[in-house]
Amino acid sequence: MKINDLKKVAVIGGGLMGRQIALNTAIYGVDTYVADANPEILPVIKEWEETYLEGRINKGKLTAEQVATTKQHFHIANSIEEAVTDADLVIEAIIENKEIKQEFFTNLNKLVRKDTIIATNSSFLYSSMFEDCVDNPTRLANLHFFNPALVMKLTEVVQGPQTSDETVQFLLDFSRKTGKDPVWVKKEIEGFIANRILRAVANEALYLVEEGVATPEEIDIAAEKGLNYPMGPFKLMDLTGVDLSYFNLKRVYDETGEKRAGFDLLKKKYEANEWGRKTGKGWYEYPKK
Ligand code: NAI
Repeated sequence: MKINDLKKVAVIGGGLMGRQIALNTAIYGVDTYVADANPEILPVIKEWEETYLEGRINKGKLTAEQVATTKQHFHIANSIEEAVTDADLVIEAIIENKEIKQEFFTNLNKLVRKDTIIATNSSFLYSSMFEDCVDNPTRLANLHFFNPALVMKLTEVVQGPQTSDETVQFLLDFSRKTGKDPVWVKKEIEGFIANRILRAVANEALYLVEEGVATPEEIDIAAEKGLNYPMGPFKLMDLTGVDLSYFNLKRVYDETGEKRAGFDLLKKKYEANEWGRKTGKGWYEYPKK
């Protein structure tokens, strides 16, 4: 499959990530079908799409003509079969659960062509975990977007041991065609690149708090004023969710028994419902306006 042959993209899972990946693809002029196992979410996606595109016109980011063209390219499918039939690329963005994804890829294999490129947006599950589910697994890779996918420029194309260089090239080309700046991750490794760096920084930041070296506020000041980070690690954690940071450490603990720096601290904050901006308190307080 070459990028010039790309006519139809299917995004499966219309949650936080899937709907944004699908709309971003449509904005760049590619026919895109989004589908979800939960039919109740389909009208929600429609309303979200309308509101988002309206907002782009109001902010002067897209013209009315561009929005009209985007709407022609953005399709909400009534079934997964409708979305993936004849698709050149399928991007899976369903729930982060290995067994559910395995079942999904096994079913998908019966519905798509043998040369359809299949990508998973998973942050922690590798494409090689699904190689037995599909014929010709050389076409299978991780294509990892960042939240919010309509805004964030990075994609990570993660090459599994079974992924061909051609598939990687296709996904790099697809990313560029849809306004992204992709990187080629040549091995499956936990956290890929960006989340790995993020975790290393958060790890050190939590260690410094645990050791009583400095407060979260002071560590954020150090990162922002000394390293030019746009946002210190604790402000960022409040934005992405202290709960998610805790789940990551808990997953490592459950799988390996290793308690990484900050585990007890994050557990306490998780149990106190101090999850960051979403609960009004995390490392900082966010009074309701
Ligand atoms: P989400 O929970 O917002 O959306 C998942 C959607 O998948 C739901 O609408 C659900 O109804 C649907 N779904 C579940 N099982 C399905 C099935 N068998 N067939 C079709 N649809 C099904 O989840 P989110 O956050 O969008 O994450 C999706 C994937 O993207 C995960 O693999 C996650 O690791 C990955 N990801 C998430 C990021 C984030 O910041 N939330 C960032 C990058 C990747």
